Amino acid sequence: MISERQITFIAEGSDGFIYRLGKDKVAKFEKTIAREIPSSTGKKTKREYRMGRFLYENGISVPRPHGIELITLSSDTQGVTWPRGFSSRAYPAFVMDYIEGVVLDDLVFSINAGTNTPWQERKHARKMYNREIEKVRDLFVAPLDLGLHNSIWNREEDRIYLIDFQGWILPRIPKEQTL
Ligand SMILES: Nc1ncnc2c1ncn2[C@@H]1O[C@H](COP(=O)(O)OP(=O)(O)OP(=O)(O)O)[C@@H](O)[C@H]1O
Ligand SMILES: [Mg+2]
Repeated sequence: MISERQITFIAEGSDGFIYRLGKDKVAKFEKTIAREIPSSTGKKTKREYRMGRFLYENGISVPRPHGIELITLSSDTQGVTWPRGFSSRAYPAFVMDYIEGVVLDDLVFSINAGTNTPWQERKHARKMYNREIEKVRDLFVAPLDLGLHNSIWNREEDRIYLIDFQGWILPRIPKEQTL
């Protein structure tokens, strides 16, 4: 049950609040949802989930999308940064796999975790990122808000994951014609 799952705060981005659900999942709430009807599904959340599915099903390296869940952040939620305007009601969130790793921006520019990362490794991670973006373009999806800050590198798998595809637009032409 959702209520028994441990929820911990991960980050506040410009568009969303990100929480970890248990060990394996992440929930992303859109900030604007607080102004909408609580039980409604946020449009951006829905769009990001749809895009996540499209990318995942077409072989792009993104966290596995699980769906949209109504989640309540209770006041005892660990490490909670209470989203402005939120109350202890259920809000829709885009639920996806939790990706263990380091944000590529930090790795490549040595802001935090990347301090001791060899140059070759940074170049390698950037190449993987660029290759993944090319694959997205091949699907006729226009990626917005591009940047190494919207990607996570998992060292063990030696794999990068693209995150944050809010605002990306699905191709209007049928799939058979695009691929
Ligand atoms: N699936 C995930 N697994 C692990 N961490 C994640 C995941 N999704 C997001 N995060 C963490 O949350 C941060 C913000 O996520 P995201 O970029 O999706 O939010 P945002 O509000 O759109 O951010 P911004 O607009 O500032 O780029 C990421 O930088 C990353 O640290
Ligand atoms: Mg982001």
